[in-house]
Amino acid sequence: MTTIKGKRILLGMTGGIAAFKSAELARILVRAGVDLRVAMTEAATRFVTPVTMQALSGQTVWTDLWDARVPDNMAHIELSRDRDLILVAPASADFMAKLAHGLADDLLSALALARRCPLMLAPAMNVEMWDSPATQRNVLTLRDDGVVFAGPAAGDQACGETGMGRMVEPQQIAEEVEALFQPKVLAGKRVLVTAGPTEEPIDPVRVITNLSSGKMGYAVARAAREAGADVTLISGPVALPAPSGVARVSVRTAREMFDAVKAAVSGSDIFVSVAAVADYRVKSPAPNKIKKDSGRGRTLELEENPDILAWVAARPAPPLCVGFAAESEDVASNARAKRSKKKLPLLAANLAQRALGADENEITLFDERGEHPLGRGPKIELARKLMLHLAGMSAGRKRG
Ligand code: CTP
Repeated sequence: MTTIKGKRILLGMTGGIAAFKSAELARILVRAGVDLRVAMTEAATRFVTPVTMQALSGQTVWTDLWDARVPDNMAHIELSRDRDLILVAPASADFMAKLAHGLADDLLSALALARRCPLMLAPAMNVEMWDSPATQRNVLTLRDDGVVFAGPAAGDQACGETGMGRMVEPQQIAEEVEALFQPKVLAGKRVLVTAGPTEEPIDPVRVITNLSSGKMGYAVARAAREAGADVTLISGPVALPAPSGVARVSVRTAREMFDAVKAAVSGSDIFVSVAAVADYRVKSPAPNKIKKDSGRGRTLELEENPDILAWVAARPAPPLCVGFAAESEDVASNARAKRSKKKLPLLAANLAQRALGADENEITLFDERGEHPLGRGPKIELARKLMLHLAGMSAGRKRG
């Protein structure tokens, strides 16, 4: 989370059992280098003490509209003036109702009303409170006012009921904060991404596949979304949650992935093909589990799968196509050869042994202007650099 280092955030907490998760959120943000100031409503202090939040943020915690420690007694203005963001987590139904109507009868609501910076809410409440027409009306009003929402999520609730209204996990809230600060270099663009491996059945319980965790492709989808694009992610079988705000289509085989790409590609401005597509499939998968026949070998007859990226790149008016090449040796020369073979404007290459399953990667981009090393780092940070490069390439580009 290096991109939020040095950001000045005011963490507001309102009354709700999810307030205990805000302690973890504060730790994550402080560890990421955020200058964190905490303001709590009176109700929030019933759930978590200001002492806890002071210890975690390393700063004075503010609770009172009339706090005389603020020199000019303007706590409701001063405490948010130097902030880059006000993040309210948890945000109760009552607090959202106050915000929607511009009420400011306590420190946190006054700070929110007098702010000049963006406001993000992580709602937390009982499912019926979330679903109530009044809360839904308030959500619409707040969205119209430019307030950003992180969640809520669906699931088990502290009250024993199940449904929408859980506060999203602290790590996810921190990721939403990071996303908010990314430059919107792909605003208005439609980006299609493939990720993960494909699985080609041998019989009902066996497959041919490629080793691929999907992490790089998911990072690309997330970075594109953060950059303001409308993102569709076509994913082979992986154990990753869909990045927030991204439409995911799950597939299994290369042919399923091909069909999904064909259905989604028209209207896309950029196609980033990160999937490790199996080059071959078994010609006639067995309908039942193949039994071992000791002492005898077996031969599988394979046939070639469609090359999805090459097909997209060869369309009459293709989107800006990006290939990913995981090479095990000679990265640069293989990458150049692959780029010209598939007629790609851009190819991202890495050393397969280093990237597989890891959270880090090392990528070099190859385009018509030459070689651009992105360096080594977390996959999400490399993906963000890729978005900046793509924004530069797609500026002024006409499809086809
Ligand atoms: N790709 C694809 N469909 C395939 C095979 C690959 O869309 N059937 C895409 C990958 O998503 C990647 C790029 O093509 O963006 C390069 O994949 P790679 O497997 O490295 O290239 P190949 O052309 O298959 O070359 P080889 O396997 O011989 O290295």
